[in-house]
Amino acid sequence: MKKIEKVGVLGTGLMGSGIVQVCAQAGYDVVAREIEEEYWKKAFGKIEGFLQKAVDKEKISSADKDAALSRMSGTTSLDDLADCDLVIEAVVEDIEVKNEAFGELDEICPEHTIFASNTSSLTIVEMAAATARPERVIGLHFFNPVPIMKLVEVVRAITTGQETFDRAWAFAESLGKIPIAAKDNSGFVVNLLLVPYLLGAVRALESGVASVEDIDKGMVFGCGHPMGPLTLLDFVGIDTTYRIAEIMFDEYKQEVYAAPPLLRKMHLAGYHGRKSGKGFYDYSGEEPVPMDLNL
Ligand code: CAA
Ligand code: NAD
Repeated sequence: MKKIEKVGVLGTGLMGSGIVQVCAQAGYDVVAREIEEEYWKKAFGKIEGFLQKAVDKEKISSADKDAALSRMSGTTSLDDLADCDLVIEAVVEDIEVKNEAFGELDEICPEHTIFASNTSSLTIVEMAAATARPERVIGLHFFNPVPIMKLVEVVRAITTGQETFDRAWAFAESLGKIPIAAKDNSGFVVNLLLVPYLLGAVRALESGVASVEDIDKGMVFGCGHPMGPLTLLDFVGIDTTYRIAEIMFDEYKQEVYAAPPLLRKMHLAGYHGRKSGKGFYDYSGEEPVPMDLNL
């Protein structure tokens, strides 16, 4: 069994950048692939900022920060992932984009390389079936923000080999994460429960139950959640959540997974949440303020 030493990460958006950071901090060499050079450069700048903050707070040493940064490299070429022992994809929630990348990597990477997906709602077997190494394809589902959230769902498709599962589990633990084993059903454990809750909050807003702020306050002060559901939707991304809902509804045909019309409209309007500056809240000022959605 070859040791995992070098990790490839596809996509340096919200999730990919966090995955790059935790891998580099855990001592792995990491190469991140983006579609544009400026995207990975921007993400690496943010990672440097988080590490600097940790140095300032004396959580890590300056040498730790420099060592982590020196283990990271960025590229736009998939060929640069040829010597990775593990590749984790964190590209947009779209099976075609994921499978196109894994299909190309299947030709580029050696036989022992494990392909892992950070998908929120797609089934792993859909990606495994698109490669010639289905026994080495697995789900490694991280949570946002990756450097803070402890959980990783380790998802075994019907095709995943035991050795792949064991290596992926040990890898998650080596990052200081808490792994749980999940079945390859759309949404695994957490999103199976979380997504209906988030969509329910949008339906509550749509039907006039309460304002954006009061729905969020309800769950923060009534249930002790760290953020309310509409803040969390902005944090996860409206575009991503819309895609997740579509995929889960397609899988289960249950109303609780259906994207509420308001979510679709926000997606169409480009109100993608924090990352676009507008979502349920407007992030252009010092503090977020609820958006006027003409409800
Ligand atoms: N990278 C690194 N560090 C980060 C970070 C990031 N992206 N974001 C925040 N932090 C750090 C901050 O620097 C801060 O560190 P210090 O304690 O050293 O100051 C710490 O995290 C706490 O941050 P803040 O003080 O800014 O904010 P907070 O106390 O309000 O906590 C939060 C922020 C951790 C995000 C908290 O609000 C929270 O837990 N929210 C819920 C998150 C959640 O539910 N995530 C799951 C989303 S669903 C998902 O991921 C699955 C899916 O498939 C969609
Ligand atoms: P994001 O939109 O922030 O980032 C996606 C990145 O992928 C973008 O920077 C994009 O340029 C890049 N990309 C697109 N095609 C690519 C390709 N072929 N090769 C390399 N990079 C490519 O999205 P995100 O929120 O980071 O989500 C990424 C994945 O993680 C999705 O599958 C999502 O469902 C899952 N996920 C998201 C969250 C969350 O809270 N946002 C949590 C857990 C899992």
